Amino acid sequence: MTTVDTDPVTQADAAANIAAAGLADRVDLKIADGGQFLADLPDDSVDLLFLDAERTEYPRWWPHPLRVIRPGGLLVADNATSHPDEIAPLAKLLADAPNCYSTLVPVGSGELVAVLDR
Ligand SMILES: C[S@@+](CC[C@H](N)C(=O)[O-])C[C@H]1O[C@@H](n2cnc3c(N)ncnc32)[C@H](O)[C@@H]1O
Repeated sequence: MTTVDTDPVTQADAAANIAAAGLADRVDLKIADGGQFLADLPDDSVDLLFLDAERTEYPRWWPHPLRVIRPGGLLVADNATSHPDEIAPLAKLLADAPNCYSTLVPVGSGELVAVLDR
């Protein structure tokens, strides 16, 4: 698993939590812009992409969030019910994307879940 955040303090907290869970050898922590990180990934290289960053930035990251997901892979975006107006542009992009099927899972802050069937 790779986790990306622009904030070194957040990544240090995450590193401590991951180590406490005994998962330090399984997680690669990057300090980087999520949009640029995705843009630099190859096609079809991600099994599961979980978006929990600055929600209004997601449309500017397009098409990379979907381009990088492998066939059968998942995109999950947090805060779909807590911040529906901010997630709506991403939901529209997913709804319009070919071979992409999305739904809202109303747990916690709301998860927008999309599966790529290409
Ligand atoms: C709601 S917090 C979630 C943090 C973490 N996922 C968690 O659950 O604890 C949003 C995070 O997105 C990060 N962030 C904001 N814009 C970003 C960007 N362009 N690329 C990567 N991370 C970003 C912030 O630094 C912040 O830590």
